[in-house]
Amino acid sequence: MTDKRRLRVALLGAGSVGSQVAALLREHADELAERSGAELELAGIAVRNPDAPRNAELPRELMTTDAETLIVGSDIVIEVMGGLEPARSYVLQAINSGADIVTANKAMLATHGAEIFDAADQVGASVSYEAAVAAAIPIIRPLRDSLAGDRVNRIMGIVNGTTNYILDRMDREGADFGEVLADAQRLGYAEADPTADVEAYDAAQKAAILASLAFHTTVPLEAVHREGITGITKGMMDAARHAGYVIKLLAVCERLADRADGEAVSVRVYPALVPREHPLASVHGVNNAVFVEAAAAGNLMFYGAGAGGLQTASAVLGDVVSAARRHIAGGVGVGESARAHLPVVAIGEIVTRYQVTLEVDDQAGVLATVAGILSDGRVSIATVEQTVTEEGRARLVIGTHQAVEQDLNETVGRLATSGVVERVVSVLRVEGD
Ligand code: NDP
Ligand code: HSE
Repeated sequence: MTDKRRLRVALLGAGSVGSQVAALLREHADELAERSGAELELAGIAVRNPDAPRNAELPRELMTTDAETLIVGSDIVIEVMGGLEPARSYVLQAINSGADIVTANKAMLATHGAEIFDAADQVGASVSYEAAVAAAIPIIRPLRDSLAGDRVNRIMGIVNGTTNYILDRMDREGADFGEVLADAQRLGYAEADPTADVEAYDAAQKAAILASLAFHTTVPLEAVHREGITGITKGMMDAARHAGYVIKLLAVCERLADRADGEAVSVRVYPALVPREHPLASVHGVNNAVFVEAAAAGNLMFYGAGAGGLQTASAVLGDVVSAARRHIAGGVGVGESARAHLPVVAIGEIVTRYQVTLEVDDQAGVLATVAGILSDGRVSIATVEQTVTEEGRARLVIGTHQAVEQDLNETVGRLATSGVVERVVSVLRVEGD
């Protein structure tokens, strides 16, 4: 057997993901060496507290609080600390000292990606981040490499495991939001601050990354429209089920090719009604799924575990093997392609379908007034269902045809002040039918 080159690997973080990465690197050292063509020496693991209990057995002597010294001389730096700082500074230090980067940190990439990719381009380093979107599911490489010759028109996905886990249990068990969130935290799905999950910051970061790759355009995080799931009630879940839908937190990245003022994109994350028969409706638990509609390839679906330490470690290690192969072969890392420079439109400009639920007085002429206001606002009705509430009011569930978001919002505002509407119960977008 010929002697293999030895690559020094620094691991930053040993939490849910990092502890599993370290364990797999050690357990599968021989196989990983065969696959990558180099022995991967885990040189050290930077953490905040070296004596904290870990999810895997890791030698105490590998633990350090001195990430900067660990990075010096490393060939591959795996960043699974999370957060913006010091992760960004460590990654830039590692790039400038000649290392290739593997990271699962979507917050850092969505916020500082341009700076990090630029720094990597300057020195020919690679930055790999398969784990940053939809954890175990291969979606970054398919978009960056496999579909590089195609034209992606739309991506619609469930990209946050924690919120899918919560919504799914609320839907299937009638479970309480807080209780289910605590379970997601205990299982290692949620971010260090779970607000990132439930307020959809995490999904927005992933949407920015997916859209940037798909549309060859840097999509700044601030341009992503974001709505979380904290306003979703059991009543809304029940109503959705009754109407043949399920509520899912969706990331929608859309190419808008037919605009008078030129091509643009829309990137948005919100809870939406998805028809029960749609494949995304049967994505349960912590799983994620990403639909990609491409001009030549047609529709593609990527499905699997969207969170979890071990599952995410799989994607991290795939990137480590690729980085090791590149390090051995030499040459520059693959840079990001962001030359299309497409503008991102505001949420008011999107066109989709809506379900508007209103409580109104159960009197003659009310339905006609509501229909008139919708018609005046250029919102066309597709379906109406009327039921009687316990208080004896009428509940109208109105499904619209496609409408412009701004028209819909203005119309709902006029309905709310029309005198015939007691309460706007909910306004939800409908996606996937
Ligand atoms: P954890 O919070 O479980 O772990 C973070 C680790 O980083 C801990 O070991 C912590 O040390 C260490 N750390 C944090 N800050 C510092 C610092 N300033 N200096 C040194 N070490 C530090 O996070 P996860 O493992 O869940 O997530 C890691 C990354 O992976 C994040 O970017 C996350 O978004 C991403 N990700 C997570 C997934 C998941 O399912 N958990 C899935 C996909 C991506 P200590 O233990 O001593 O506190
Ligand atoms: N907190 C994230 C989620 C982890 O629940 O999807 C995976 O990125």
